[in-house]
Amino acid sequence: MKPGLPSSSQDSQIFADILFSRDVALVKIITQLIKFYINRNISEILLFDMIIKPRIKGFVCITSHPLGCMENVRQQAELASKMALANGSGPKRVLVIGASTGYGLASRISAAFGNNAETLGVSFERAPKEGKPASPGFYNTAAFGKLAEQKGLVSHDINGDAFSKECKDEVVLKAKEMGGDFDMVVYSLASPRRTDPSDGSIYRACLKPIGMIYKNKTLDTDRGEVKDISIDPANDDEIHQTERVMGGDDWELWTNRLITEGLLAKGCINLAYSYVGPEVTWPIYRNGTIGRAKSHLENVASSLNRQMKTSCNGQAFVSVNKAVVTQASSAIPVVPLYVSMLFKVMREFGTHEGCIEQTNRLFQDRLYGSDASLELDNDNRIRLDDLEMAEDVQTRIKELWPKVNSENLTSLTNFEEYQQEFLRLFGFGIDGVDYDKDVDPVHPF
Ligand code: NAI
Repeated sequence: MKPGLPSSSQDSQIFADILFSRDVALVKIITQLIKFYINRNISEILLFDMIIKPRIKGFVCITSHPLGCMENVRQQAELASKMALANGSGPKRVLVIGASTGYGLASRISAAFGNNAETLGVSFERAPKEGKPASPGFYNTAAFGKLAEQKGLVSHDINGDAFSKECKDEVVLKAKEMGGDFDMVVYSLASPRRTDPSDGSIYRACLKPIGMIYKNKTLDTDRGEVKDISIDPANDDEIHQTERVMGGDDWELWTNRLITEGLLAKGCINLAYSYVGPEVTWPIYRNGTIGRAKSHLENVASSLNRQMKTSCNGQAFVSVNKAVVTQASSAIPVVPLYVSMLFKVMREFGTHEGCIEQTNRLFQDRLYGSDASLELDNDNRIRLDDLEMAEDVQTRIKELWPKVNSENLTSLTNFEEYQQEFLRLFGFGIDGVDYDKDVDPVHPF
């Protein structure tokens, strides 16, 4: 053994250790850099920019496109601006409860863009999260606010549970800040559940026939197949719970609160929406649990009408609207098949309407236009569904209904249009929107 070898071997060991620890450090640094780079990219992609495509699960789409929602609202606003209400004849300050989608959104747009009304909108919508788009109603509301601002219109929003006392408190506060009374209130909620603010009971709505098993055709909208469906009848508790959610309880609470707070202007019109539809859907709709709730709502309208009269010389009505594609209606069995067929038939007759055409007509022809006439039915309801329920339209539906099946679905119905309308609810399939482009889901506008 050479002298000094132990020390030389010690040296080489130390050298090796240094090399090893240096490598470990280097590896650690590189790992950190990679992690940082990946995280940065993820945050860039998820937090700020992402390509958003539709992801449909059953009768909902779990994504939504902000720019498509903006375009959707813009197109409705354009249609409403063409409505020719004489200056000052329409409402000036409007409260819309359920203002972010469907009939509520369209009502708000008709009031604001058709009549320059100040609007306060209440809705219950999901805000965007990191890498997760908001619900379409959230984007619609933001889009509405932006377009209203561009036009110099006053608009405010409250995102919260309209059934709760807290939300009503917030609305009262905001209304007082806005500086005055509402001359129109639109109650356009559609919800699967409601917490009763008086005792915290939670009620759930269901869509079932009453007193009979309902068998009919329905449409599997995912597969484009016409299928048979059989739905068992609701029990008493289910009927009761559906009535507590979709009946008139909450509309009554809102109206009483607004009256007590002195927030209804002289001559205020207070409206809620209902549906009747054709015989083919009666067992699941009008004569089912939801129809029972709608009857309750309509009965409440009569008592609210009396209260409105004494408190502010106002009126309360239910308007029966036509069947359209909304998040609420797409969840009802049989209805998507009926609506696909209705699209075809009403287009043939040249009477097709969506939400905005309906609410424009409500404002123009029934409530505020120079030749407006309410034309109430025997149950004191406005019938905006007159074109849907026209005899020639319904006779044609009755002819087609027994014949429709998976094979002739696209020729006997406008199923494709139904699908397009469904996607539009979530901001997809709208001309002029580049769906391959990154969009910031948190600050899209
Ligand atoms: P939709 O699903 O498009 O809109 C529901 C609205 O209610 C949204 O603005 C949503 O944010 C709001 N909302 C739900 N739960 C809420 C809560 N807890 N707090 C605050 N806001 C809440 O529904 P759609 O179809 O426009 O329905 C509105 C009304 O029109 C309903 O009374 C419905 O029965 C009626 N109607 C609907 C027809 C249709 O074919 N869609 C036909 C005739 C009447």
